[in-house]
Amino acid sequence: MDDLKAKYLGQIAEAADEAAIEAIRLAAVGKKGEVALKMRELGKMTPEERQTAGPALNELKDEINSALAAKKAALADAALDERLRSEWLDVTLPARNRRQGTLHPISQAREELTAIFAEMGFSVAEGPRIDTDWYNFDALNIPGHHPARAEMDTFYMHRAEGDNRPPHVLRTHTSPVQIRSMEKMGAPLRVICPGGVYRADYDQTHTPMFHQVEGLALDRDISMANLKWTLEEFVKAFFEVDDVELRFRASHFPFTEPSAEVDIRCSWEGGQLKIGEGDDWLEILGSGMVHPKVIAAGGIDPDVYQGFAFGIGIDRLAMLKYGIPDLRAFFDSDLRWLRHYGFAALDMPNLHGGLSR
Ligand code: DAH
Repeated sequence: MDDLKAKYLGQIAEAADEAAIEAIRLAAVGKKGEVALKMRELGKMTPEERQTAGPALNELKDEINSALAAKKAALADAALDERLRSEWLDVTLPARNRRQGTLHPISQAREELTAIFAEMGFSVAEGPRIDTDWYNFDALNIPGHHPARAEMDTFYMHRAEGDNRPPHVLRTHTSPVQIRSMEKMGAPLRVICPGGVYRADYDQTHTPMFHQVEGLALDRDISMANLKWTLEEFVKAFFEVDDVELRFRASHFPFTEPSAEVDIRCSWEGGQLKIGEGDDWLEILGSGMVHPKVIAAGGIDPDVYQGFAFGIGIDRLAMLKYGIPDLRAFFDSDLRWLRHYGFAALDMPNLHGGLSR
């Protein structure tokens, strides 16, 4: 028994991993292990011999078992120590530059204008970029023969032969979201609808995909004066100037009557664009009183409700505010451009903190 004890305790001390421990356990105290075999021999002993050999064997078994358990725990501790030694982390290292990723100027402009209109009680509505020609044209009082359809350089979705779903287009403006918002929310209503729009056009100030924000306010007594005030407040807040002169020019859109295009006073002195001073005017948006047919198409009674709408080019606003001369660069995904013109991603624009820091 002393030999067995010395042999197994020695092996346990030498064991290098859990597999070795398990092998020793089976060989020593397993069902067919050496200690079990010895226990079977008890039957052949005299009662006197058995009285000393029995307890001694049990003691041996207990001793080997606790040595196995102790060694197992020691191996686990050593493994943990080894992990802690190799998987360390220096928490005093400097953090990665937080301007690694930036907010695109269009996203920034969109956040800014959303903050401004939210303050005036407008909520944000969205619609699909692929829409039916009914939402994009007919519902907005632009029937099939209307020249505006051709002017807009529309992308039509391909239709397989026998496909009798209504024709779909890549929306040419955000105005269809007016209709969807009226259908969904009814009147009174105050929404802005920012998002991407598409037209087949490409030069320094045109890209096939660009961004607009639509505005729509409906109530029982909304007038052109409300439109003028709202746009003036918006432009002052957006360009962060105290005073700005806007010029309302009579115009024509099928979905508004009367319609106005709005220019902002500016100067181009020294090739630099300044808002709010100078002798030049820059067109920034289309607007007007919503046409009764459009209100009816949205499922609202035009004899009870009236209101104004406007459509602004977001990319254009961003170019103006941040002095970015070429629209095409907005969509080149050039990292150097994005780092130069991008905004810190975690600074949310709000009116109290200043819009663009
Ligand atoms: N949808 C027009 C465009 O893309 C812009 C526009 C003009 C929107 C007048 C309006 C509006 O809501 O009232 O050219």
